[in-house]
Amino acid sequence: MKNFSLYFKILVIVSATSYIDAFTRNEFPDDFLFGAATSAYQWEGAVDEDGRTPSVWDTYSHSYSRDNGDIACDGYHKYKEDVKLMVEMGLQSFRFSISWSRLLPNGRGPINPKGLLFYKKLIKELQNHGIEPHVTLYHYDLPQSLEDEYGGWLNRKIIEDFTAFADVCFREFGEDVKLWTTVNEATIFAIASYGEGIAPPGHCSPNIFINCSTGNSSTEPYIAGHNMLLAHASVSNLYKLKYKGKQRGSVGFSIFAFGLSPNTNSTDDEIATQRAKAFLLDWMLKPLVFGDYPDVMKRTLGSRLPVFSEEESEQVKGSSDFIGIIHYITFYVTSQPAPSIFPNMKEGFFTDMGVYLLPIGNFSFSEWEAIPWGLEGVLEYLKQSYNNPPIYILENGKPMKHDSMLQDTPRVEYIQAYIGAVLNAIKNGSDTRGYFVWSMIDLYELMAGYTTSFGMYYVNFSDPGRKRSPKLSASWYTGFLNGTIDVASQDYIQLQRNLSGYSSL
Ligand code: NOJ
Repeated sequence: MKNFSLYFKILVIVSATSYIDAFTRNEFPDDFLFGAATSAYQWEGAVDEDGRTPSVWDTYSHSYSRDNGDIACDGYHKYKEDVKLMVEMGLQSFRFSISWSRLLPNGRGPINPKGLLFYKKLIKELQNHGIEPHVTLYHYDLPQSLEDEYGGWLNRKIIEDFTAFADVCFREFGEDVKLWTTVNEATIFAIASYGEGIAPPGHCSPNIFINCSTGNSSTEPYIAGHNMLLAHASVSNLYKLKYKGKQRGSVGFSIFAFGLSPNTNSTDDEIATQRAKAFLLDWMLKPLVFGDYPDVMKRTLGSRLPVFSEEESEQVKGSSDFIGIIHYITFYVTSQPAPSIFPNMKEGFFTDMGVYLLPIGNFSFSEWEAIPWGLEGVLEYLKQSYNNPPIYILENGKPMKHDSMLQDTPRVEYIQAYIGAVLNAIKNGSDTRGYFVWSMIDLYELMAGYTTSFGMYYVNFSDPGRKRSPKLSASWYTGFLNGTIDVASQDYIQLQRNLSGYSSL
């Protein structure tokens, strides 16, 4: 009886919010990749085992005496169990990142044989089960030694070290890995880590909201962003010259892509939206596709925006085989002063942007609603403004309070709506080639530690064994991936069957 009423609850919620017409997995192109994602610091744990040295993320999480990724999901030891879960779920691809300081404990130089072995074993395990690895090279975790030595991403020396690290990865894993993302969500990485102080290494100008030990919010995001583009281009160039012929893979760059839409149909809000797109999307996309920053950023920032030499511009232009999109939220944009969703700092990226982002519906950084048309808007914008580049949606998902329920119906509803949006975009001509749910499993979260999570598998973080249990979303994704869930007919029979095993935590 309990399951029966739960079934109807899901049915009602899902059909009430259903956003698109009928679809099943089979309507996507045959080679479209469905997967799920994690990152090294958030999943692996084992931070001081087998030769790994600290990254800036270890330092950052420990300095705020809050949760940390010391053990996380213990993926380092439990990777085989997790691959088994992926197989059961029917995942075609698993996105994970390589911990730079596990592979090269000094940031450069000698390889750590145990770190190397771990990634070789993980990749083999995936391959043996027909799961395609999608590897991110940089996910917030610079070796602390490089931060200490020269300031990490703020120094152009990073280009050489990042390229040498990528060289090791291509050489050692490139036979088996065909999809590489160089830098994870570079736009928000530059803003959050070097402007707002809310991600490692935690830099910002002095302000009343957050106490950063160092930083300059009006210059550092642009310098770090510039070095990310140059480092990416150098890695991509290396791949083309030395590996692509043999390995035949692709190297892409990823940005955090907000959905952006004018708040009213006034000309002012339309112009404000164009400006927000220039700062939040074109900032990095325009150099990658056309070789230079948007004019409006050059005019606004003057000498604070680094300049590409002719040679650099040529190297950056066309350096991304695909664009990786990290997408979660959509905002209305207005020119009218409104309380900012980001702290109103005296200086920094959002002050430079100079227009206002308004949340849609119930919004906080730990909870948000599905606005699937926002993603369609991003994909359409990329198609029209950037010659329809190949795209992978590398992250999309919904945070929920961690210890809530295994019946994560709002997450099912969210993922379903966004997959529908991707299908619509493909039907409208977008060259989107893959979609990854963030996250495959509950993780140590970037902003929220263990209080909220995105996983399709629950992890009991109080249990030393880090027991995993499937949530409703895992079951839904399984059904969708094996074609037994038809979204239009709300065919939840399979799901209902699975529900018998579900309980509240
Ligand atoms: C962005 C980041 O790539 C990831 O590390 C983070 O946990 C999720 N999105 C959710 O905030």
